[in-house]
Amino acid sequence: MDNQTNKLRVAVLFGGVSGEHEISLLSARSILSALDPERYEVIQIGITHEGQWLYSENALDAFNEGKLHACTPATLLPDPTRNGIYLMKEEQSAELLHWLSSVDVVFPVLHGTFGEDGTIQGLLEMANVAYVGSGVVASAVGMDKGIFKDVMRAHNIPVVDWQVFTRQEVERNIEDVIAKAERIAPYPLFVKPANLGSSVGVSKCHNRDQLRLGLLDASRYDRRILVERGLNAREIEVSVLGNEEVDASVPGEIIPADEFYSYEAKYHDDRSQLLIPAPLEPELTEYARSLAIRTFKAIDGAGMARVDMLLDKEQGELFVNEINTIPGFTRISMYPKLWNAVGISYPELVNRLIELALTRKAEKAKNIYRYQRESKGK
Ligand SMILES: Nc1ncnc2c1ncn2[C@@H]1O[C@H](COP(=O)(O)OP(=O)(O)O)[C@@H](O)[C@H]1O
Ligand SMILES: [Mg+2]
Repeated sequence: MDNQTNKLRVAVLFGGVSGEHEISLLSARSILSALDPERYEVIQIGITHEGQWLYSENALDAFNEGKLHACTPATLLPDPTRNGIYLMKEEQSAELLHWLSSVDVVFPVLHGTFGEDGTIQGLLEMANVAYVGSGVVASAVGMDKGIFKDVMRAHNIPVVDWQVFTRQEVERNIEDVIAKAERIAPYPLFVKPANLGSSVGVSKCHNRDQLRLGLLDASRYDRRILVERGLNAREIEVSVLGNEEVDASVPGEIIPADEFYSYEAKYHDDRSQLLIPAPLEPELTEYARSLAIRTFKAIDGAGMARVDMLLDKEQGELFVNEINTIPGFTRISMYPKLWNAVGISYPELVNRLIELALTRKAEKAKNIYRYQRESKGK
């Protein structure tokens, strides 16, 4: 908190070492424009494709214009007694740390690897700074589609049948992997890297040859690969907001321009459509909302998430497909639009997420970190 102005200091992190770096810049653009300058003092930090942290007052513009030299290398230390952002400046051929500013809340607007997977959350936990969104476990479980499905099964939340294979198995004996994969379900089968997003490396396979190619493609992106039953499905998404008390938005529906919601359909084809609310029977709407909340709680989510579901067109059955703990956050993204449909404006949503981050940190502060003899009450 700035003592003179009473403003909350919010560090917005964007970019990152991720295939979704560019999407993150778009999300950050909308978030920065929604942060009320009367309430917040904003520190912009971009993370390059190589993982370098760069600060400038207008770091987002610098990233968008490729003018990274206009920024100063910055860092946040894991040592909680050294709160805030430090700049790294070269002096007499050594790099020295210069304290720039304290930070009350970090908003990691980082999609995918190193942003949505618990890794940056680990650093922020070490540093003991409040941050928007899920913690380490929920982020990591939400990111790994295989572990996520294990958790769903343990909670009796419906997911389509799947199996996880490793890259090593694919490299050593792809025929064996294919034989096992074909036992999951009849074609079409979906192949996907376990820890990725934006449909990168995802393929719909109609036969053995396509499955072989799909396995090889997915194993370029990750050590762990999922094969799962392919549905002919409608794509339903629900936004979730809260910490322990969780609210779910109305469901939305995506009509992809492609055969499935591929990378092209997501970002390069404006024929993909969002329907808000999704045209569903009232019971199904309520069921989708309850599944979203159960999913969020099952992984111990915090702050926000978008829960994506598949509604089987043939059987009418609803399955949870995945959870995104840092969903696309531009003004036209599904996550904020679903809240907008129930009366929560974009800036209000950003305010609430920051409040939830502070509440979560206060809850964590109740934990003690050294052994104390039990207090028996008097
Ligand atoms: N089992 C499945 N059946 C039918 N379509 C699927 C299945 N799995 C994925 N898809 C399609 O592929 C898209 C991307 O897969 P998804 O699991 O959501 O990965 P990502 O994290 O890359 O978004 C989905 O939006 C959907 O269109
Ligand atoms: Mg998806």
